[in-house]
Amino acid sequence: MSLLEVKNLSHSFDYPLFKDINFSLQKEETMSITGVSGSGKSTLMHICSTLLKPNSGDIKLFEKDIYGLSQKKLIKIRREEIGIIFQTHYLFRGFSAYENIELSNLMTKNEIDDELLEKLKITKVINQKVGELSGGQQQRVSIARVLAKKPKIIFADEPTGNLDPATADEVINILFEYISEVKGALLLVTHDDKLASRCKYKKNLSIDGLIG
Ligand SMILES: Nc1ncnc2c1ncn2[C@@H]1O[C@H](COP(=O)(O)OP(=O)(O)OP(=O)(O)O)[C@@H](O)[C@H]1O
Ligand SMILES: [Mg+2]
Repeated sequence: MSLLEVKNLSHSFDYPLFKDINFSLQKEETMSITGVSGSGKSTLMHICSTLLKPNSGDIKLFEKDIYGLSQKKLIKIRREEIGIIFQTHYLFRGFSAYENIELSNLMTKNEIDDELLEKLKITKVINQKVGELSGGQQQRVSIARVLAKKPKIIFADEPTGNLDPATADEVINILFEYISEVKGALLLVTHDDKLASRCKYKKNLSIDGLIG
């Protein structure tokens, strides 16, 4: 069973961004997307993760054509079955790190996994308000929030952008371990070529499509 399948996907805003993109991800498969700034990487992630209906093409998640589903079903998939790590993380600033993770778990009724917090090295700051955390700490809280709800597909848009190389490596290891543990799939946008090479498929996005 394909976890994610993209067929004949094209999208434009005021001008064409990309055209005729085709790929699929099965269990335990990972794919990286590199490309110059503005090439449409985040847009492609949004389209694949239920957030933006494309101009043309089909996106299937768990073999369901997502943009043919009712809004209610689409939101259920977004909340419960996929995890989106955004380029700019949307944490609630007035809440503590713990409360932010707790909020996402309330919806899926999962327990917070202390081992995960430890691995991400955020145990010490867990009760601090998000506004008091460094950019890298906030990024790790947002990753904990996504993994805590145990999604099958992770969409990660530059998840290590705010991290030093050593911490970035650890965070990526956690993502890879997670994917093999739950037999899920990972779509990763990164500017880091070395990191991109760790994925099973390594693609570059440009006006000509997804190449690699
Ligand atoms: N909602 C929107 N409406 C109009 N134009 C948009 C919208 N979202 C993105 N764009 C434009 O589409 C292009 C691609 O943006 P996108 O954020 O996908 O690029 P990116 O490859 O992720 O870049 P970066 O590496 O800087 O994050 C940009 O020119 C951007 O201004
Ligand atoms: Mg982007």
